[in-house]
Amino acid sequence: MKKNNDLQSANFKRRTFLKGAALSAAAIITGKSFAQMHDMHNMDHGSMDHGDGNATAQADTKKMRMIDGQLFPEAKFPQDQALPALNSLKNQSTVSGQFVAHLQAKPASVELVPDLKTIFWAYNGQVPGPLIEVYEGDTLTITFQNDLPQASTIHWHGLPVPPDQDGNPQDEVKSGQSRVYTFTLPQGCAGTYWYHPHGHETVAEQAFRGLAGALIVRAKQDPLAHIPEQNWLISDLKLDEQGQIADNTMIDWMNGREGQFVLINGAYKPQINLDQATRVRVWNACSGRYLKLALADATVYLIGTDGGLLEEIVEIEDLLLTPGERAQLLIIPKKTGSVYLQSLAYDRGKMGPVGVEPTRNLAKVNLKLSTMPTIPTKLRDLPKYANAKSIKKLEYTETMEMGSGMNFFINGKQHDMARVDLTSKVGELEEWIIFNNSHMDHNFHIHGEQFKVIDFELNGKLSVPIAALKDTVNLKPYETVRLHILQTHKGLRMYHCHILEHETLGMMGQLEVI
Ligand code: C2O
Ligand code: CU
Ligand code: CU
Repeated sequence: MKKNNDLQSANFKRRTFLKGAALSAAAIITGKSFAQMHDMHNMDHGSMDHGDGNATAQADTKKMRMIDGQLFPEAKFPQDQALPALNSLKNQSTVSGQFVAHLQAKPASVELVPDLKTIFWAYNGQVPGPLIEVYEGDTLTITFQNDLPQASTIHWHGLPVPPDQDGNPQDEVKSGQSRVYTFTLPQGCAGTYWYHPHGHETVAEQAFRGLAGALIVRAKQDPLAHIPEQNWLISDLKLDEQGQIADNTMIDWMNGREGQFVLINGAYKPQINLDQATRVRVWNACSGRYLKLALADATVYLIGTDGGLLEEIVEIEDLLLTPGERAQLLIIPKKTGSVYLQSLAYDRGKMGPVGVEPTRNLAKVNLKLSTMPTIPTKLRDLPKYANAKSIKKLEYTETMEMGSGMNFFINGKQHDMARVDLTSKVGELEEWIIFNNSHMDHNFHIHGEQFKVIDFELNGKLSVPIAALKDTVNLKPYETVRLHILQTHKGLRMYHCHILEHETLGMMGQLEVI
């Protein structure tokens, strides 16, 4: 009990500290008075420059830098190795339909760079965490041992698991303790998921220290089972000058953390071989980095989203994958030769002395001219939704105010563990309307259910996306998204922006399903 209290007060102080810190940082970088900073929307981003801000911000907040100091040089980091496969988590059960395993979260020393030990927080000592591969209908029994210095949970991002098994911040496992998560995967949920911590105000740090792993649910009847697969789990890493995980700066807290390294399956700029038509699962497991993926000299089809296959494949030019989102691609090389897998420049309205994220090469891809495999025209049937029984409205806003600092809100409120923000009924179709009333991109994620996006509206222009199951969707500044969602389990669900710093600073709400 004593320990719990200590942790809670430490967390409380931390959030208060962050808010004050972010305020002073923002004031310094804009060179404007607090009064002028009152409304974020009036801020002139063009005038931001860090000048002498760094030193002042450090003096003000002692521990936290406003921007990064010297970071670990990219040139010293090994690259060009063959893309490693994700390590699979071994099933300890021999009973069919049962998946039994342990996940231990613990500080672990990993040698990413020869002769340099980087201390991560890792599941089973691995970065990224082990891949869980299961089938629809399976029952998972995962014992979680928390050997981190702080409380944690495991959240099964996107999976339709009961709320009491979904690692809510209310159900923390204290340092040194363990618990069992158990749930059965319903038919129809085959798709590309992941797991990561979801404690109270600790998600951003636990994730950037390395805690995240992939989870694939397979269907026994998979219309694309004959196509070879690859997994590309994309994560972000920021190492300080000494090669250790760097702390978040204030800029990270404002924009979402971005490091100097973008890794695929834990490797930096690896070589990927595509010597035949390949089904590729992609995860954006980054805290704040947006990925606009593109690959030259290949025909790329989107074949699946967060919650599984599309009804029909669709050819795409590039793929915007925001933090937390996943996709399945079918890639057919059009030529033999080498190209780069790129993340194209994307302006997501970041604040402060940071430019627009430029185009980056993420991997070298060795292509071999290949042909389109035979696939059925119709991959699956998605639920057809008609009239929603009720409408829920959410509005994302941000403010910077005297005394309370940088704040991110949903419907004017920050996350409160004790408050229920919305209520839904099991089995009732709902329409959710989410308006991003802010100057930067944020995305929207809800736990435990997949939704279908009805449409997007931006500056009076409507756009209708292809039918797909999603649990995370991006909103550009001042964009509105409408979606259909139906709850299937009673209990408490979280919804939030999946830029993990924003979530951790309170851009999260709670839905009670009755
Ligand atoms: Cu990846 Cu609350 O979620
Ligand atoms: Cu989630
Ligand atoms: Cu956000």
